[in-house]
Amino acid sequence: MWMDPPDTLILNEYEAHVWRADLALDKYSQTTFLQLLSPEELTRARKFRFEKDRRTFIIARGILRSLIGKYLKINPAAISFHYSRFGKPGILDNNCLRFNISHSENMVLCAFAKKFDIGVDVEFINPDIEVKDIAANFFSVNEIRNLIALPANQQTLGFFNCWTRKEAFIKAVGEGLSFPLDKFEVSLKPGEPAKLLSTDWEPNAVSKWSMYAMTPNENFVGSLAIESAVHEIKFWDYDIRPESVT
Ligand SMILES: CC(C)(COP(=O)(O)OP(=O)(O)OC[C@H]1O[C@@H](n2cnc3c(N)ncnc32)[C@H](O)[C@@H]1OP(=O)(O)O)[C@@H](O)C(=O)NCCC(=O)NCCS
Repeated sequence: MWMDPPDTLILNEYEAHVWRADLALDKYSQTTFLQLLSPEELTRARKFRFEKDRRTFIIARGILRSLIGKYLKINPAAISFHYSRFGKPGILDNNCLRFNISHSENMVLCAFAKKFDIGVDVEFINPDIEVKDIAANFFSVNEIRNLIALPANQQTLGFFNCWTRKEAFIKAVGEGLSFPLDKFEVSLKPGEPAKLLSTDWEPNAVSKWSMYAMTPNENFVGSLAIESAVHEIKFWDYDIRPESVT
């Protein structure tokens, strides 16, 4: 699924690209990426209490800037972001590239599309969480029913499928937690395709959105939501040499 990227990145209109960076591998260094960050990002980085979170933020932002620079053929350090009312970042003065980013533990995913709203989410599969209790607070009635109907040994994965699909969807919409999580339904059964199944607000929404499942590695679940019937998703490993990040 995850491939080495080509030297020149081309993103077609009905395509989405997802990039994976596993920061547990020692090939990502903060110093490479620090030089790309804006003064605001550096201030934000300094505010993290834990070094681990600071490192993830710096490298994730650096990778994001490096990739936007490659898609748009611009200097990554010169990119300015704007933020929606709910905190979703976009590229200032540019309408030809949409992106979203997610990080969990050591895993970072960045997703790109040309002109469709896109959201990505990755979560570490924590085997110790009480999936039914959390589902009762966040999932729709049908999702809770479908989760409980799974064999016990599939419920943790079913839970994270559902969680990341819902999160990817609200991140694509961009309204954050103001969006009603129990008013739309996604598939969750392990082995079945990722899908938006229904929404409370628009019967046609289901045909407008596509969802994709991905496995960044065996300990993580990833989901992508995009407002279109995309023809192809490409999965790239962010394995760009430090001297080539700009
Ligand atoms: C902020 C939120 C958008 C994602 O939070 P998260 O899952 O903790 O974090 P992720 O790593 O997946 O995503 C963070 C990135 O999303 C982006 N982001 C921030 N606000 C966003 C928004 N409103 N919409 C889309 N993307 C957003 C940012 O780039 C951020 O990265 P950065 O802080 O390094 O700049 C929001 O959905 C949230 O707080 N969720 C909490 C979890 C929850 O209750 N989920 C219920 C699922 S059933």
